[in-house]
Amino acid sequence: MNTPSLTSVGLGKSFGSFVAVQGLDLKVEGAKCVGFLGPNGAGKTTTLKMFADMIFPSRGEAFINGISVRKDRKHALSHAGVLIESPEIYPSLSPTEALEMVAEIRGVPRGEQPRRIRSVLDEVKMLDWAHQKVGRFSKGMKQRIQIAAALVHDPEVLILDEPSTGLDPRGMAEVRAIVREQRKHGRLIFMSSHILSEVTDVCDEVALIDRGKLLFYDTLANVTARFSTGNAQVDAVFVRPLDPAQVTGTIAHLPGVKAVELLDPKRVRLGVPPGALEQAQVLEALVALRLGLVSFKESTGALEDVYMQQIARGD
Ligand SMILES: Nc1ncnc2c1ncn2[C@@H]1O[C@H](COP(=O)(O)OP(=O)(O)O)[C@@H](O)[C@H]1O
Ligand SMILES: [Mg+2]
Repeated sequence: MNTPSLTSVGLGKSFGSFVAVQGLDLKVEGAKCVGFLGPNGAGKTTTLKMFADMIFPSRGEAFINGISVRKDRKHALSHAGVLIESPEIYPSLSPTEALEMVAEIRGVPRGEQPRRIRSVLDEVKMLDWAHQKVGRFSKGMKQRIQIAAALVHDPEVLILDEPSTGLDPRGMAEVRAIVREQRKHGRLIFMSSHILSEVTDVCDEVALIDRGKLLFYDTLANVTARFSTGNAQVDAVFVRPLDPAQVTGTIAHLPGVKAVELLDPKRVRLGVPPGALEQAQVLEALVALRLGLVSFKESTGALEDVYMQQIARGD
């Protein structure tokens, strides 16, 4: 099996004079999940569509497993499963019937189709629904069938455009769990999202895009470390509004507290040492102040801050 990869060289797209994606140089490689993170309008869908040959690049080139998408479309796309703005599945079909059609189009040999279809339905946890009508399914279940359709020809690369967007919380959680498991099958998943917590929850690496520009691509751990101050961040929530004087006067001076920021009247973000023992000390000291502490939880602050700072910075 090939090492799965997605590569872009100077990839760009303009709509008239508007530059939607500019000079994107990216190489993602290996069995892992890469989150393509950025706010709405950042250029995520446009980029993914160029990888899937759904739109022509204005500049540069995209490659799947090293194969040029423009020069050898069929070969390149035979290695990729794509879920970008897919049309709805015809409601009177069962998942099995729908997947038979997709498998046929994708050139899965007839003899292998039943096994492949069962296997992908199992991957998306829809085996029990294999012969029910899709029209009766929830949005989340339909989305899982769409993921199964993208997987039916057993591609090494899976390109997903905001797969959980528009689903209810349960549907979102189920789709995320399925995406997370895809790594086990040796696949490279390139998943766009505008939700930071989704990327930190599901992905190993993050590529941040804003206003058509790639801002960075790195592992989650590196990104967090690069931008953190060496402290862990903890959010503490209280039942009553805090007196700001108490925050700057008392909480800021507790042993182990390196920084404090009032996020809203009942919530503070504390910079604390990264060790569990040190954090336990801070927690005990906070409780002893009897301010009505109800929760004390490490925040994803560092990356969140990077995300907000980067996308707030206008050019
Ligand atoms: N076909 C199009 N014609 C004109 N502008 C477009 C077209 N498609 C996308 N855009 C613009 O390109 C920018 C990036 O869009 P898109 O890639 O859909 O962003 P994202 O998926 O990150 O939300 C947006 O400003 C969008 O309005
Ligand atoms: Mg989009």
